[in-house]
Amino acid sequence: MENKYDPVCGMNVTKLSGQVKTKQGGEEKHFCSESCQKRFADLPDRFAGEPLIRMRGIWKIFMMGKAKTEVLRGLDLNIWAGDFVAIIGASGSGKSTALNMMGLLDRPSKGKIFWRGQDVESWSEKTRASRRSGEFGFVFQQYNLLSWLTAYENVTLPLIFSGKKVTEKVKKSFADAGLTERMKHRPTEMSGGEQQRVALLRSLVNDPQVILGDEPTGNLDSKTGDRVLKMLIDLNKDQGKTLVVVTHDVDIAEQADQVIALKDGALLPDHRAHKSVYAE
Ligand SMILES: Nc1ncnc2c1ncn2[C@@H]1O[C@H](COP(=O)(O)OP(=O)(O)OP(=O)(O)O)[C@@H](O)[C@H]1O
Ligand SMILES: [Mg+2]
Repeated sequence: MENKYDPVCGMNVTKLSGQVKTKQGGEEKHFCSESCQKRFADLPDRFAGEPLIRMRGIWKIFMMGKAKTEVLRGLDLNIWAGDFVAIIGASGSGKSTALNMMGLLDRPSKGKIFWRGQDVESWSEKTRASRRSGEFGFVFQQYNLLSWLTAYENVTLPLIFSGKKVTEKVKKSFADAGLTERMKHRPTEMSGGEQQRVALLRSLVNDPQVILGDEPTGNLDSKTGDRVLKMLIDLNKDQGKTLVVVTHDVDIAEQADQVIALKDGALLPDHRAHKSVYAE
């Protein structure tokens, strides 16, 4: 039997009992839920081509001595350019593992990842590295700033590594983020929120198309977290950057265009699962 995939979220719905069907020009489309069906009905052309990132049949297996952990078990998903996607799921469900794979930081044990339809395994190591630094900006829960460098030096580092010129744009980005006064500070001389905003500026300095955040507000109090989140959402809404954020925060998931819920190493058909998972 040929596999059927939800054209929006990319889930394999072949064996899904509650799938929703639509007939379009004689062709039957299968969706995991009404939420994907509705997104498709609203913008059929947008979801007709290749997504920015497509994962198909992704397995990730870790071996610890003789113990085998199957973290991802045939994960299928689509990320569409310009979307704000929230990835949710219990601790240990494989969210970070999946995000790292999207950003070419890790490789699947089995399965394929496509970037605009290109199988990323067909790329040389050099292409892979240049795509990783050119197309993706990473923001992690830990800010990962180099402690011996100033905020300004941390932000310019990716430019220096990729042999690009450091321009006045960097100073402007500090000003826009309200961080002009912090440019010469080292990480220990800044608050958590300031460090995360610096980390965000660093992730953006190469002007990536996609921003990948792994619990980017996880270490921040709610007010500071909101400020960082607003910066991220503005980049998505105003500049059309694709934003993929792993989060436990219901408020973040509520604001996303697409929520992807992971369970048992694959997608849940209910994209609003956070409502039941996290709602008290
Ligand atoms: N390098 C590794 N070696 C062995 N096991 C690993 C490795 N990396 C991750 N794992 C295991 O894979 C599982 C999924 O890890 P992952 O970090 O993707 O979870 P997560 O959904 O991001 O969880 P959290 O919400 O706690 O961050 C965990 O059980 C973890 O112990
Ligand atoms: Mg994680």
